[in-house]
Amino acid sequence: MARAAIALSRRVEDFSRKSCRAFPLEELYRLGRGTGQDRLHLARLIHQEVAIRNAQLCKELLLLPFGLAQTEGVGRVVECFSSYVDWLSAFPVPQEPKHDEDFTQLLEQILQDNADVTRSLGTAVHEVKTALGSAYEEVRPEVDLIMDRFFIKRIGLRFLIQHHIEAAQVVPGASGIIRSDVGVGEILRSAATEARKSVEDELGISPDVEVFGDGAEIPITQSTHASTYATGRGLGSSPNLVHNRHFTHVPSHVRFICFELLRNACRAVASNWQRRQLQEQQELLISVADAAFKAGDGDNLPSYQSVPLGRAAVATLPFAVPSGMWKTNHGERPAPVRAIFAYGRDEVSIKVSDEGGGLPRSEVQTAWSYYTSGTHSHSARPRHAQVDFHEPRELLQTAGVGLPLARLHARYYGGDVVLKSMEGFGTDVYVFLHRLGQCCENLPQGVRISPAQQDSSVGGEASIRLLEALGDMSEADVAFLTRRLHERRLRMQDSQSAAEDS
Ligand SMILES: Nc1ncnc2c1ncn2[C@@H]1O[C@H](COP(=O)(O)OP(=O)(O)OP(=O)(O)O)[C@@H](O)[C@H]1O
Ligand SMILES: [Mg+2]
Repeated sequence: MARAAIALSRRVEDFSRKSCRAFPLEELYRLGRGTGQDRLHLARLIHQEVAIRNAQLCKELLLLPFGLAQTEGVGRVVECFSSYVDWLSAFPVPQEPKHDEDFTQLLEQILQDNADVTRSLGTAVHEVKTALGSAYEEVRPEVDLIMDRFFIKRIGLRFLIQHHIEAAQVVPGASGIIRSDVGVGEILRSAATEARKSVEDELGISPDVEVFGDGAEIPITQSTHASTYATGRGLGSSPNLVHNRHFTHVPSHVRFICFELLRNACRAVASNWQRRQLQEQQELLISVADAAFKAGDGDNLPSYQSVPLGRAAVATLPFAVPSGMWKTNHGERPAPVRAIFAYGRDEVSIKVSDEGGGLPRSEVQTAWSYYTSGTHSHSARPRHAQVDFHEPRELLQTAGVGLPLARLHARYYGGDVVLKSMEGFGTDVYVFLHRLGQCCENLPQGVRISPAQQDSSVGGEASIRLLEALGDMSEADVAFLTRRLHERRLRMQDSQSAAEDS
């Protein structure tokens, strides 16, 4: 599997030693809406920052443990990132509007070009999994932390690039990719349409998705029409609606989170429903067979495959069957997925609830792991639903990133995604999104330290503390990671001194 890790050019090495800058979102928002001079200022900042961050990602990738650094997948990513450092350093720092136009085109090219990164890392992780076999389970927590760390940096990098590209257009209520009027209901609805379609393409059926908003105090009933709540109409007396429905955030990231969670929910419901239908069909056939034998008509039994689903079709069979037998628990359609959102004072929350059977407690941790699934056939994510991970997903081994990446997108802004499962019934996934404020002044700590202020090598304990601040990390995780990093540092020092001696 392994090949020699590629060597970085001197230029990349030099950039990787420079410090990144943490951009407060407020500053990005202001510069993105500002004058021509502001835009040039932003271009200059980004010119330097994108080169440094790409160089640091290369450096970090080459320090990966467990043979990951030597895999072909990681090699491809490093080659690709280091070429951006070369492109950028060959490009003059923008000093006038004409340069900025060319610079923006270069950023577009970088954005398009590295679309394959998630897949390349997937193949790298699978290579290591295959090489380590069951021992992979021991290193899985650390690989997940490494992936978290890599992807949160990449989210930050792509955020900067996309912000500069989109800030070229003047859009009311927007500054680059940040908007002051994010409509959670609209996003949920369009993400639901895409998620349903994706699951329908994959499994042939998908549940409906109902979207409710700001209606915590309104009972949700069968007869309630979802759109009433999603738009807030009919809720005039609700105290929750009087204020703070202006939500400043990055809509493409909110959409990515919603799409991933809704697709998971629809898929769980649809496959659970299909399983139950099959089970009911089998039970039905057994009863039909029993009835036929009792009636002395065993020779005319239909074959298993020839009995279509549905009451009408089976009712044509020549036996009397008790009427209650046809009822499934869900009727003719799978139970709908429900997405509920609420605007709070500090944050906007979304809950996606499904009746897809839930997850056993022992599998919840694995669900957050990277590149774990691969059991379902994969249709590509719709392009606009993918934010920055829009590579085609035809390779099964790249499946299993939706949940962890959705959580990272929320954590990047100081929010979170939490999953609660009732095994045997269904799953609730909560999304908490910080209000970034009209001018993003509520920039959370998690964003301020990420990604720019993180140490670019995985060798330091400081980087563990910074990572810890991005989200919950148990003491056991921290202890484990600290120990492993310490061991790796010692190994690296040993091999360095051996190289110096020889
Ligand atoms: N709502 C849910 N109900 C039941 N299981 C779920 C639910 N959401 C996630 N899971 C489990 O967690 C696993 C990981 O989810 P994740 O979204 O990361 O990957 P995936 O859906 O398998 O692939 P993709 O990368 O396309 O999203 C799923 O394969 C599934 O087993
Ligand atoms: Mg998924």
